[in-house]
Amino acid sequence: MSTTKPMKRNKLLLLGAWLLMTTVPAQAADAIVPGAEWLDTEGMVINAHGGGILYHEGIYYWYGEAKGDFTYRSPGVGWDCYRTDAGGVSCYSSRDLCHWTYEGIVLDPDTTHTFSDIHPTMVIERPKVIYNERTRQFVMWMHIDNHNYEKAVAGVAVSDRPTGKFRFIESIRPNGQMSRDMTLFKDDDQQAYLVYSSEGNATLHIASLSDDYLHVTPHYTRHFVGQSREAPAMFKRQGKYYIVTSGCTGWDPNEAQWAVADHVMGPYTVMDNPCRGPHADKTFYAQSTFALPVVGTDQYIIMFDRWNKKDLITSRYVWLPVRFDDGALTIPWTDRWTPATLRW
Ligand code: GAL
Repeated sequence: MSTTKPMKRNKLLLLGAWLLMTTVPAQAADAIVPGAEWLDTEGMVINAHGGGILYHEGIYYWYGEAKGDFTYRSPGVGWDCYRTDAGGVSCYSSRDLCHWTYEGIVLDPDTTHTFSDIHPTMVIERPKVIYNERTRQFVMWMHIDNHNYEKAVAGVAVSDRPTGKFRFIESIRPNGQMSRDMTLFKDDDQQAYLVYSSEGNATLHIASLSDDYLHVTPHYTRHFVGQSREAPAMFKRQGKYYIVTSGCTGWDPNEAQWAVADHVMGPYTVMDNPCRGPHADKTFYAQSTFALPVVGTDQYIIMFDRWNKKDLITSRYVWLPVRFDDGALTIPWTDRWTPATLRW
């Protein structure tokens, strides 16, 4: 992160290469400043919302929603349905979690086929990528929806390289069930799971994936039944499985909750709000998207989005390390912190 004057990539590209040549690269500090404007190594604002991170061969890859410049309300939709055109999935790479290099749009929206599930008029949200060691493919799952979020499906795409391009395969309702906010979780035994808000967002499902990660198996479990939890972020530590979720209030912030289990598919014991500090009851005005274990350390980062619903591309990132006290998970606010990648 830096105090250098920010620029939006979409707009900047139009200014021409000569301007890029004269742009002073941002000097990112060796720290993470939650909620600050975050610039990539070219000095442009990172555009990777609802993101997730893959660690592969020493490099972290941050995938996220590439929001368009223009936020509008979906026409004919009664509720607060702010959105931008779907710009596909962006990717940034880093070795230390502080300095991020833009790798481009790794899943392009399909601008040619009007009825494509990844047409810009559709919704492409919360992309997550895992690596399949058997097939040596990078598999992306994401929330796909139509302009009023009634389609409620999970999309899957695949690539031979972490930086794409990813090839979109299909969108499905897992076992016939709705799927909106989602994440992926890959266990130590290589078994992977799709974790998604289902049943009209009332209940969270965890479905195991096929060996190639491209399909959902019939085996799934239901959690937080009727409690309307979404934005799941999941990780494993010392044999226990943790899920952090948000409530269900659209782009507006609400209170987070954590839950813990001895088995990946549950049952999960619901605990309380893990956030501590100013505006903890509103998750620091943010919403969870992913839990990132810092490889080789005991540091776990919860990634949140601080949505700016009327100008979505300017939404910020709030990343905070988790604390464990006698097994209890807390997420204290901190203005600035150093990832373990830079401490060990
Ligand atoms: C939220 C969800 C976001 C986005 C938004 C649209 O509930 O977490 O990812 O889908 O609704 O209103």
